[in-house]
Amino acid sequence: MTHLTLRTPDDWHLHLRDGAMLRAVLPHSAAHFARAIIMPNLVPPVVTGADAAAYRARIMAALPEGADFIPLMTLYLTEDTDPDDVAAAHASGLIHAVKLYPAGATTNSASGVANFDRVQGVLERMAQIGLPLCVHGEVTDPTVDIFDREAVFIDRILDPLRRRVPVLKVVMEHITTSQGVDYVKTHDTGLGATITTHHLVINRNHILAGGIRPHYYCLPVAKREEHRLALRAAATSGDARFFLGTDSAPHTDPAKLQPCGCAGCFTAPNTMPILAHVFEQDGALANLESFASLNGPAFYGLPPNSSTITLTKGAPDQPTHIDTDDGPVTIFDPGFTPDWHVTARSSC
Ligand code: NCD
Ligand code: ZN
Repeated sequence: MTHLTLRTPDDWHLHLRDGAMLRAVLPHSAAHFARAIIMPNLVPPVVTGADAAAYRARIMAALPEGADFIPLMTLYLTEDTDPDDVAAAHASGLIHAVKLYPAGATTNSASGVANFDRVQGVLERMAQIGLPLCVHGEVTDPTVDIFDREAVFIDRILDPLRRRVPVLKVVMEHITTSQGVDYVKTHDTGLGATITTHHLVINRNHILAGGIRPHYYCLPVAKREEHRLALRAAATSGDARFFLGTDSAPHTDPAKLQPCGCAGCFTAPNTMPILAHVFEQDGALANLESFASLNGPAFYGLPPNSSTITLTKGAPDQPTHIDTDDGPVTIFDPGFTPDWHVTARSSC
């Protein structure tokens, strides 16, 4: 097979940032994806409907001429989030999810939730109106080993939360463990998970063996090989509960390459070539469209895109970084040359 045509994919977890970084990274997502769930962890975070409307306008203004891309906005859940504001932003069609960051779990999460009792009212309202909660699933307890934080989160926080608000639709974002995969599989409806590009490719050795590689450092941190294999199996299976969320999270090289470097991999430009390579390697090219283009819209109650994207066999030279007015941003290096590249995108 030399050409592969899919319905245009969507990215169900994307960091676009703001200002110069937004202008530099947005064209890369808009080139391959029709829609994306936009993460709200700006400084200050996108907390209210008015914040989301203003951020959406900045994204639309930064889109290249003629681009065919719809940002699906989210709100950043805080202990002071007003259920009426959330419901109004959802009713107007502006927001498609609310994002839960445990306070201190990751980049710009200081305003996140520490006391879960304080968000019970918002969660109940979201359950009533069918608005999904996207969850950064890591505990922040400093006594819990960083490689165990996702598994402990499921037991200590997520499962109890879902029992308290059983109707709430939940997306476990960027799962990195077999426990995450297994937990999602115990539920037939109302629970899904995004899987990133990089977690299908790297394990923790890539970060730490033979020298420290800051460009592979992201949160949740990549785990053991057995977990990567569990993610690969889930993503390539076609199971509707698993869908693509790149978690493309650009930081400038100076911000990554320092004694306390930032977490995040920038995968927007080469996600689709990498995924085609990975799915082909696993004999699952036929399931790539489910993972990247069909399962996400079905979970979010949206139609799949009617436009298409075409990938072609071959590996033209790819850039290693992009330049932004804030500095260079390194593009994720999968450690192999993807055997596919994007050659066409039709509009609907
Ligand atoms: C994200 C970022 O930089 O905003 N970083 C990351 O490593 N994924 C935050 C996040 O999604 O955890
Ligand atoms: Zn993220």
